[in-house]
Amino acid sequence: MTPLIRVQNLKKHYQIGKKTLKAVDDVSFAIYPNETLGLVGESGCGKTTLGRAIIQLFPPTSGSIYYLEKDITKQKLLKKEMQYIFQDPFASLNPRMTAGKIIEEPLVIHANMNKKERLERVCNLLYQVGLSGEHYTRYPHEFSGGQRQRIGIARALALNPSFIVCDEPIASLDVSIQAQIVNLLKGLQERHGLTYLFISHDLAMVNNISDRVAVMYKGKIVELAETYELYSNPLHPYTKALLAANPIPDPEKEKNRVRMLLKEDPSTSHFLSNGCYFRQNCKKAHSDCASSPKLREVSPGHYVSCHLQKEVNTCCGS
Ligand SMILES: Nc1ncnc2c1ncn2[C@@H]1O[C@H](COP(=O)(O)OP(=O)(O)O)[C@@H](O)[C@H]1O
Ligand SMILES: [Mg+2]
Repeated sequence: MTPLIRVQNLKKHYQIGKKTLKAVDDVSFAIYPNETLGLVGESGCGKTTLGRAIIQLFPPTSGSIYYLEKDITKQKLLKKEMQYIFQDPFASLNPRMTAGKIIEEPLVIHANMNKKERLERVCNLLYQVGLSGEHYTRYPHEFSGGQRQRIGIARALALNPSFIVCDEPIASLDVSIQAQIVNLLKGLQERHGLTYLFISHDLAMVNNISDRVAVMYKGKIVELAETYELYSNPLHPYTKALLAANPIPDPEKEKNRVRMLLKEDPSTSHFLSNGCYFRQNCKKAHSDCASSPKLREVSPGHYVSCHLQKEVNTCCGS
C-alpha cells in the first residue's frame, strides 16, 4: 500500500551555544491511509518537534517528507491536506476572535468561498464537533476545556484535510472529558477517512486509539509495531521500561512485565553523539552498542532498533 506520509532520515537539530540538540534524530517511518499511528515517549523526547516537522511548520535540518510518495520537503503546497490539533486549546485559540471566526479563518485564507458559503461551512463544522450555531459568536474563554478542543478540531477540519497530527489533544482535559474527545476524533476519522499521527505520553490512551504505535526516545524511533504486538511483545528495553512504568490494567500482561528503572531524565541528553542512546540504562549493553543501531524489521511489521534484539528474543522472550 502507498503510504500517505513517509518520513525519510528526518532530522531537526537545534544549535544551543556550541552544542547540538538533536530533537529529532534520523527518523524514518511511514503512515498509511486511514490509520492512526500512535507516537509515545516521555516529555522532551521530540514528539512535538517530529509532528510539526512533518506538517512543515518549520523546515527540517535534513531528510525528506513524502506525501503519497511525492517529495514535499521543499514545497508548502499541502497546507490544506495536513493539519494540527494542539495540546492546549486555550493557548492555541485567539482570545479576541469568536469561535466562528476562528473556524472560518482557514477558509478565508485558503478556500475559494463567499461569505454565505463560509458561514454555512462553519455552522456545519460546529455541528460535526458537537457544538451548534449558537456557539458561533462566543469567545474562547466562554467555553469549557473540552469545548475549546472541539473548536480546535473544527478549525483543523475546515479545509477537509487528509492527515492530522493530534498533539496530546486530551492531555490538558479532565479525565471525564478525554473519552468524549477521543470518540469524536474516532468518529470524524471514520466519516472523513482521516489519517492521524496521535501523539501522547498516555500509553493506555494510545493503546485504545492506535492501529500501530511508534516509541520515541531521545529523538529517535526505537520501536514500531502494530498496537497489540507492541504492548504484548515489546522488544526494545526502553519500550519495556515505559510499559513497566505505566502498567496496563490486564492481569496477564501484568504478570509478564519487566520492571526497570531509568537512571536519567530523557529530556536532558539529546546531545549524545553516537551509539545506542539507551545503553547507559541497559544491563545487557556491550561493545556493539557503541555504534548506533538501525531500526530493523525483526518480524513482519515489527521494527526495533537494538543490537541485542536476538538476545532479547531468546533470553527475555520466554
Ligand atoms: N525551538 C527550539 N529550540 C531549542 N530547543 C528546542 C526547540 N523546540 C524543542 N526543543 C527541544 O527539543 C527537545 C524535544 O522537544 P519536544 O519536541 O517539544 O518534545 P516532546 O513533545 O516529546 O515533549 C526538547 O529537549 C526541547 O527542549
Ligand atoms: Mg510535546
